Amino acid sequence: GGEAPDAAPAWWRGPQRQRLLELAAEATPRYVYHLPTVRQQARELKSLAAVDRLHYAVKANTHPAILATLAAEGFAFECVSPGELEAVAAIVPESVPLLFTPNFAPRRDYVSALATRATVTLDAMYPLERWGELFRGHEIVLRVDLGRGLGHHEKVRTGGSGSKFGLPLDQLSTFLQLADAHGVTVRGLHAHLGSGVLDAAHWGEVYAQLSSLAERIGSVAFLNIGGGLGVPSHPGEVRLDVAELDRVLREVKAAYPHYQLWMEPGRYLVADAGVLLARATQQKGKGAFRYLGIDTGMNSLIRPALYDAWHEIINLSRLDEPATALYQVVGPICESGDVLGTDRRLPEAQEDDVILIAQAGAYGKVMSSHYNLRDEADEVVIDA
Ligand code: LLP
Repeated sequence: GGEAPDAAPAWWRGPQRQRLLELAAEATPRYVYHLPTVRQQARELKSLAAVDRLHYAVKANTHPAILATLAAEGFAFECVSPGELEAVAAIVPESVPLLFTPNFAPRRDYVSALATRATVTLDAMYPLERWGELFRGHEIVLRVDLGRGLGHHEKVRTGGSGSKFGLPLDQLSTFLQLADAHGVTVRGLHAHLGSGVLDAAHWGEVYAQLSSLAERIGSVAFLNIGGGLGVPSHPGEVRLDVAELDRVLREVKAAYPHYQLWMEPGRYLVADAGVLLARATQQKGKGAFRYLGIDTGMNSLIRPALYDAWHEIINLSRLDEPATALYQVVGPICESGDVLGTDRRLPEAQEDDVILIAQAGAYGKVMSSHYNLRDEADEVVIDA
């Protein structure tokens, strides 16, 4: 790999830069989403010939314009809470399929989801054991734990020991008996091992494993091999090879042609489409470090603090100036973890410079908080 991340061409470097400077002059902090980039990512995944249905994992970004854009691109939707189901129902046409994929949800969530058109995923025995009457006569999806997890950080791995997700395979036959006893049909199998995966081979392995499990369960019609498609963020990471992903999936499909293949990506569709705009505040030299303050922090974007995530940081006011300073870029929140980027080579900044934090379209605004009662970033959509 090279020095810069092997990412999609950054839309904010081009003609949109002036627009972003104007938007930042009106207000910061502010998220800006670029819909053409969402469409471009959507169409790339739509080119996966092996995949029969793509669901957008709504948790990554719930902005109505993004939901509408992905519905128009032919996406179905995956939701994890009644709130997400409502947000989607308010925007997308009734004909669009929905998945409800909760984890340790209260009984009331299943009651409300079963009253919608959503297909419900179970990932434990408990709902059938205790609330079996709710599911009688329904077709459900079973999420299994294939015994391993993957992803960009330990906290986003959703399989294997130590993860709370999925039914362990040694409980599968008991689950199937229970389903049978309650008049419930297991129509789909689901596995999602984690988030931020760049190796295409992973989904082929999951697909093959689910296919062979499905062979043991007569009623299965579709296999949902999850989301988790990563985007390169850290310098040196290489893009997920979508053509290779299709090749890998087609190979499995040739061996098990009788199941529909579903996926549910979130990040891949929206990460590069979003930026967080902030403004430079104070600077300080202390010990070996130079700190550059900006007017928002972990309250708007928690990923660096939570996962040590790397987001590219740009001084948009000085795009053409040499990067002669080495900064720790920090926010105004009263925690030492309120660092958005460490050791960043940037031009010498001035107060009020517009600072852009890239790849903030996924798991940015949706994970933000009112911490310290700082103003929340608002959201602006641009579509040209
Ligand atoms: N399906 C299921 C069952 C999931 O749990 C998730 C994400 C997805 C699909 C979508 O994954 P994606 O394609 O976006 O990787 N906040 C973390 C990511 C947590 C993902 C949680 N589940 C982050 O900012 O990296």
